[in-house]
Amino acid sequence: MSAIEKTSFNMKSLEPKPSEFTTEVLARFAREVAKYPNDQKQSAVMACLSIVQQVNGFISPGDELFLSGYLDMSPMAVHEVSTFYNMYNLEPTGTYKINVCTNLPCQLRGGQNALDYLCKKLNIQVGETTKDGLFTLQPGECMGACADAPVLLVNDRNMCSFMSTEKMDQLIDGLKETAANGSQS
Ligand code: FES
Repeated sequence: MSAIEKTSFNMKSLEPKPSEFTTEVLARFAREVAKYPNDQKQSAVMACLSIVQQVNGFISPGDELFLSGYLDMSPMAVHEVSTFYNMYNLEPTGTYKINVCTNLPCQLRGGQNALDYLCKKLNIQVGETTKDGLFTLQPGECMGACADAPVLLVNDRNMCSFMSTEKMDQLIDGLKETAANGSQS
């Protein structure tokens, strides 16, 4: 075997394998696909990516490969969607992912200060997860609530407005308490 053949063999062994999903998850994908005409099932890609994230916590290369086959899209087209929207996690996060909006209108009303405050409070840098695995902190794009700045989003779903330091303290304490009681939301 030539050096080139050896290299290409090794490269191939590093390629992800399509993920496998339970019958229940497959049924959820199918329900999303059924909302669109037969020849437009790729329109369900965002919903299917969200389902993967709800099930696995993040979207792996194998998940993207599965969806590309399932939705008749190229792997790159799926990856373009998963990397365009910052609500998709491409690696594991803490139990609570907090996105603080740092776009300009929020910047003008304390958005960066809110992010800095949470970094200090949680003792992590932006993009990091706390050692106990509870919190991941990220900057966020405009959440359509500029008048409520500073705003943040918990786990891509729960919007928190007018986040003063006191309200952020309450939020973090409340989430810690919720986690300690064995519930996530
Ligand atoms: S700029 Fe922050 S919500 Fe719009």
